Amino acid sequence: METLINFAADLKKKEKHGIPQRFMSGKHIALIFEKQSTRTRSAFTVAAAKLGANVEYLNKNDIQLGSKESVEDTAKVLGSMFDGIAYRGDHQTTVESLGEHANIPIWNALTNEWHPTQMLADFLTIKEHLGTYKGKTITFVGDGRNNVSHSLLVTGAILGANINILAPESLQPAMSVQKIAYDIAKGSGSKLLITSDIEKGIANSDAVYTDVWCSMGEEDALDERVKLLSDYQINQKLMDMTGKKDTIFLHCLPAIHDKSTDVGKLAYEKFNVDGLEVTDDVFRSPASKVFDQAENRMHTIKALIAVTCGNVH
Ligand code: CP
Ligand code: NVA
Repeated sequence: METLINFAADLKKKEKHGIPQRFMSGKHIALIFEKQSTRTRSAFTVAAAKLGANVEYLNKNDIQLGSKESVEDTAKVLGSMFDGIAYRGDHQTTVESLGEHANIPIWNALTNEWHPTQMLADFLTIKEHLGTYKGKTITFVGDGRNNVSHSLLVTGAILGANINILAPESLQPAMSVQKIAYDIAKGSGSKLLITSDIEKGIANSDAVYTDVWCSMGEEDALDERVKLLSDYQINQKLMDMTGKKDTIFLHCLPAIHDKSTDVGKLAYEKFNVDGLEVTDDVFRSPASKVFDQAENRMHTIKALIAVTCGNVH
């Protein structure tokens, strides 16, 4: 992961200087997206095009994956034509099955369980703003059981960052994920803390990270999540509780930070709250690095596909 993050930083610098990078010339990649996406789809499309590859977007209405054709058969067919496949959908088992049967690189573009490509961008962003991620304390606040929280916990453990997950007990990371992270942390020296105690969880954070309270497919859980998570909203008071002046704010996006979205409007009308997981002032503050994270999706995905599928020597 460190190699990918460093390579992405190098590619980013070279791109800003207009140096062409044609590591994927003549390659063909497929994007199978069964869920919505702005950043990840765009990042794969632009990254692949800039590296010289051709991209084919296949959404779930275009192909017969899982409805009229098994994942295994689809994997064998696409694997015989494409050089790499990005998959976004509900099930981790689907992306793993594609990996087993396609015989080409398969990139997890988000499942209910994990969001690994997001992590490459996040840790590059942390490195750019904090100088390093090693030994820094990154605190995820909110739905600690979701794909982003799980990925952050494990990736932080791999990379030697200290990760706090601050969430009510019923939304803390799955025990199986905690076990993976704690086992890895023993080797990397990363310190992990999973707590519902706001003061304890937020103190000394170098970065505060949140994500939507209802992930894709969980839209009906809004009432329950607002009840559980209202005290865990990122606002200026919470940012001040880190006790540090330079704490940065991170969010994978999309974010509900005001009334400009359907969900934000609903939350305002139903619960009289303006913004859910983060307030608009924090979202737009100088501490917020969310649009750097978004841009870094493209640079890091470039590194990922070039290293796993391209001609990098
Ligand atoms: N952060 C992220 O994965 O965004 P999209 O859902 O828009 O791809
Ligand atoms: N946890 C969110 C992440 C979106 C990028 C979701 O799965 O919807």
